[in-house]
Amino acid sequence: MQDNEEVVAKTITYDLIILGASGFTGKYVVKEALKFHNSLKSIALAGRNPTKLTQTLQWASQPHPPPPIPILTFDTSDPQSLLSLCSQTKLILNCVGPFRLYGEPVVAACVETGCDYLDICGEPEFMERVEAKYGEKAVETGSLVISACGFDSIPAELGLIFNSRQWVPPAVPNRVEAYLSLESQKRIVGNFGTFESAVLGIANADKLQELRRSRPRRARPVIPGPSPPKGPLIEHQKKIGLWAVKLPSADSIVVRRTLAALTENPVGLPGVNESAEHSEKRGAFWSTVKPAHFGVKIGSKSLLGVFRFITVGMFMGLLGRTAFGRWLLLKFPSIFSLGWFRKKGPSDDEVRSASFKMWFVGCGFSNNSLVSEANMKPDMEIITRVMGPEIGYLTTPIILLQCALILLSQRDNLPNGVFPPGIVFGPTDLQERLQENGISFDVISKSSLSA
Ligand SMILES: NC(=O)c1ccc[n+]([C@@H]2O[C@H](COP(=O)([O-])OP(=O)(O)OC[C@H]3O[C@@H](n4cnc5c(N)ncnc54)[C@H](OP(=O)(O)O)[C@@H]3O)[C@@H](O)[C@H]2O)c1
Repeated sequence: MQDNEEVVAKTITYDLIILGASGFTGKYVVKEALKFHNSLKSIALAGRNPTKLTQTLQWASQPHPPPPIPILTFDTSDPQSLLSLCSQTKLILNCVGPFRLYGEPVVAACVETGCDYLDICGEPEFMERVEAKYGEKAVETGSLVISACGFDSIPAELGLIFNSRQWVPPAVPNRVEAYLSLESQKRIVGNFGTFESAVLGIANADKLQELRRSRPRRARPVIPGPSPPKGPLIEHQKKIGLWAVKLPSADSIVVRRTLAALTENPVGLPGVNESAEHSEKRGAFWSTVKPAHFGVKIGSKSLLGVFRFITVGMFMGLLGRTAFGRWLLLKFPSIFSLGWFRKKGPSDDEVRSASFKMWFVGCGFSNNSLVSEANMKPDMEIITRVMGPEIGYLTTPIILLQCALILLSQRDNLPNGVFPPGIVFGPTDLQERLQENGISFDVISKSSLSA
């Protein structure tokens, strides 16, 4: 096997290599990639264990026999194995998490070799650290590195952009609150990998603050109108029929990074070799996007459902701070997440029967000139919605693959460097591609708000 791999490694250039293909999410990413096998020149799967990778390929290609896709081995603790992978491919799709533990050597190897990188990370500290540490070098070596190309955080990024573009001048948005609702005929379950990443994120929350303090302040967008009020802990959003509580996910942080990048680059990021026509299209696109305050809440149809979210949040927040507490959380994920995370992940049936709706409730002003009037409150509301299949193992692979296909086919129009997804993929056809693949974007209502 080893010898064969080395021969393959020296003779084939891959469009993309899926890292962590044997993982729970990785195997669904492989399944999604096989749907596009014809449009991808060549793909390879990579992981630590060739037997597990072979089983993944068999599982993902059912009911058909597995196609002849090369299987490569690497370990994130072996930089040479990573350099070898990266020097054979245009693009790495990284599904090895927690990213805080295993992600950095992969990014380092990509940046070193000038290979492009996408991942499904939902860990803000990793994303910001990578941007700070590898941003400049990625520009030099011609690498494009984008984290959060999964459910974290593309529905939030594109959903905010979609809502913001519905505000036709002179109307302007002031704030957009996203309400996530997870639905299923069966149980809603996530795999242990996501739970572990979240627990480690809580344990290291202070590192993100430390990192930010050590970096120059990012530009802040100018948002018309007052800052949004803090609001109650539990909100009843009658218009969409949900009780909701703040969700401390990566989404609002990633969106904020995109808005900072847009403030610093008001016409977006120039592609490495883009045509004048594309540059014009990009500028025109961003001129229609108006920044707004943004937050995310998780919603439930019942008040009891919200109490369950709060209970899990309290378990994670309190226990995640001490080593013993983390041991308890990671040893008994099912108990402390009230059944939402399981060591062996959801069954195929549970994945298939789940779906999500993310409502974007935007409040703003029907006329920009009203904003300067004293005590003027938002007088207009636009509600939009992004909706799709199960978040972790169906929506995430769909998004990751469409980002990959855009990157491979439109590379000249995209920049080099380390960025959040919205600022790179906003002006591309990503939204249309997601719509063609079962993730919809709809305008639900536009209405006046009474004073
Ligand atoms: N953005 C989103 O919405 C989203 C959705 C789903 C998942 N995720 C994230 O994706 C990550 C993976 O989650 P998961 O549930 O798929 O976890 P998982 O089932 O534990 O998979 C982890 C993968 O990483 C591989 N791996 C671990 N250590 C490695 C090392 N040192 N070298 C090489 N490979 C290594 C594992 O290989 P072996 O098979 O050899 O153990 C496995 O393939 C998590 O961080 C999760 O939060 C994000």
